[in-house]
Amino acid sequence: MKKTSNLPYLRENGFPPVLAAPLAGITDKIFRGILREMGADFCFTEMVSAKALVYKNKKTETLLDISGEEEFCGVQLFGADPYEMAEAARFAEARGARVIDINMGCPVPKVVRNGEGAALLRDPLLAEQILKAMEKAVSVPITVKLRRGFDGGREGFELAKRMEAAGAAAVTVHGRDRAQFYSGKADWDFIAEVKEALTIPVIGNGDIFTAADAAAMAERTGCDGVMVARGMLGNPWLIRNIKAAFCGLPPVYPTGEEKTELAIAQFRACVEKYGEWMGVRFMRKFFGWYVRGFRDAAAARNELNHLTDPAEIEALLRALAAKNDASR
Ligand SMILES: Cc1cc2nc3c(=O)[nH]c(=O)nc-3n(C[C@H](O)[C@H](O)[C@H](O)COP(=O)(O)O)c2cc1C
Repeated sequence: MKKTSNLPYLRENGFPPVLAAPLAGITDKIFRGILREMGADFCFTEMVSAKALVYKNKKTETLLDISGEEEFCGVQLFGADPYEMAEAARFAEARGARVIDINMGCPVPKVVRNGEGAALLRDPLLAEQILKAMEKAVSVPITVKLRRGFDGGREGFELAKRMEAAGAAAVTVHGRDRAQFYSGKADWDFIAEVKEALTIPVIGNGDIFTAADAAAMAERTGCDGVMVARGMLGNPWLIRNIKAAFCGLPPVYPTGEEKTELAIAQFRACVEKYGEWMGVRFMRKFFGWYVRGFRDAAAARNELNHLTDPAEIEALLRALAAKNDASR
């Protein structure tokens, strides 16, 4: 019984949907709001631990908050225990999730050591048990995000086929193996091979940094949608430009002022939601990304990593943008 047709991001308009990737510590509710404004067709929470949910970890539970964005945001779960994953899927569905994604690609040692994330590439039987247990537990479609392989291998190919046979509604393929983490080039030919072999939708992921990259990936792999990850850091306009490219329109780049005003709006929302101390610290990495390419970016980044007063941070960002735009 396939649940493919329930995937909210699949539309019959002829354009591949543009999905924003789950990114741990990055794709919070505030950033997701920005991605949506930029035209993302769908996005995800960061990976959420099924075990922590089952043990009622309060902080983890807040990651499931997708209120007001249920149509637009899936929940991504990671775990290695079919019972816990099924239970976590139930929680996610109760919180309004319309799509639940299983993480089978996270390369981080502490995750892999527990048999979670990319470790499932080497344990297809367990992966299948997890998927089936989750399907029994909820009525929403379940998708899988996986990598090409574990350590130079291509375990992801068999796993993708197995996930389709077991009822997955779609598969996202990151064309790297676990050992690569995020280095080297993503293997788009592998994505094409999976697309060729499967009948469910295949979402392509890896190395989309420009609108032209997205168009090239869609062309080369025939994928049913593209998923953008690091390319949107400091540059959520990439999503808008990819959508434009699919319509044959040229990219439009933001000015320095537009960049810093967006950074400041995000910063203010974070301070309001997380408090000043956390908001400042959470945003530091984003500031680093937003000022990339600005004149004197390295010195500014260094200063932004030390400033704690929101007014001083905003003043520095605005001064940087003014200097940057004046020299354009
Ligand atoms: C900082 C960071 C956090 C990530 N967190 C997650 C995550 O929570 N779940 C997931 O499936 N992938 C995660 N990924 C992987 C991305 O979703 C994506 O698959 C990968 O970055 C490849 O795409 P790219 O080459 O366009 O960046 C993360 C990647 C990075 C760099």
